[in-house]
Amino acid sequence: MIGIFDSGIGGLTAVKEVLKQLPEYQIIYFGDTARTPYGNKSSETIKKYAFQDTDFLIKKGAKLIIVACNTASALGFQDLKDKFNLPIFEVITPAVEKAVLISKNKRIGVIGTRTTIESGIYQNLIKKIDSKIEVFSQACPLLVPLIEENWPKKPEMKMIVKKYLYPLKLKQIDTLILGCTHYPIIKDLIQIKMGQRVKLVDSAEEIVIKVKKFLEENKEMEKELAKGSQHQFFLSDITAKAQEVGSKWLESKVKFQLANFE
Ligand code: DGL
Repeated sequence: MIGIFDSGIGGLTAVKEVLKQLPEYQIIYFGDTARTPYGNKSSETIKKYAFQDTDFLIKKGAKLIIVACNTASALGFQDLKDKFNLPIFEVITPAVEKAVLISKNKRIGVIGTRTTIESGIYQNLIKKIDSKIEVFSQACPLLVPLIEENWPKKPEMKMIVKKYLYPLKLKQIDTLILGCTHYPIIKDLIQIKMGQRVKLVDSAEEIVIKVKKFLEENKEMEKELAKGSQHQFFLSDITAKAQEVGSKWLESKVKFQLANFE
């Protein structure tokens, strides 16, 4: 099975991409709703949570892990690589590679949670590839709760998105990385606020392109992954709201099971 984890239900955007690009594989999802958000927690806490989330998925039979959460990818990925012996993919590198490839004016913007932005990981990786690129980052801490409230079209959402993106617009970026699981849900609104000339890079989309390529090149590994549509969705806390919003985002009724890994 392909194991996917996130701090909550936002990682369903990555599930959606796997269903689109790799429809034959069975998915096991874990969303840490009891401890969300990760985006304002310390690096030590995020590492611990990322370890437990990965361990849970492996014990349930995952043979490949996608860290859908940008915050966990930014802070916890190296630790996971050191501790587990199976293919693990993070969402940052593929998005960075895509942004560097498509930016023409070498001015790239990044939006994410406070912890992701403060980690400086996007900036560092972009500069490593091309030191001439200018990177402009913006933490958008209010967006996750608004998106989870399912407010994509409310005027308050439009106002806050505009406020966060305006400084990036002034910097005349031509590419914007959506560095958080939740942002693809409001991709259209972000596109409107940034203008059509700015290209958006969706990290969920890019990570799955990377996993797909990996599976094409690693047939032995590919054979180990269970096929079928009996996907399993686990949360560490189940609420009616999560059930409702999760089903809406996935555009199909999703039945969450309670994960117990204490
Ligand atoms: N999943 C987180 C991320 O992609 C956003 C939500 C949170 O802060 O936990 O960074």
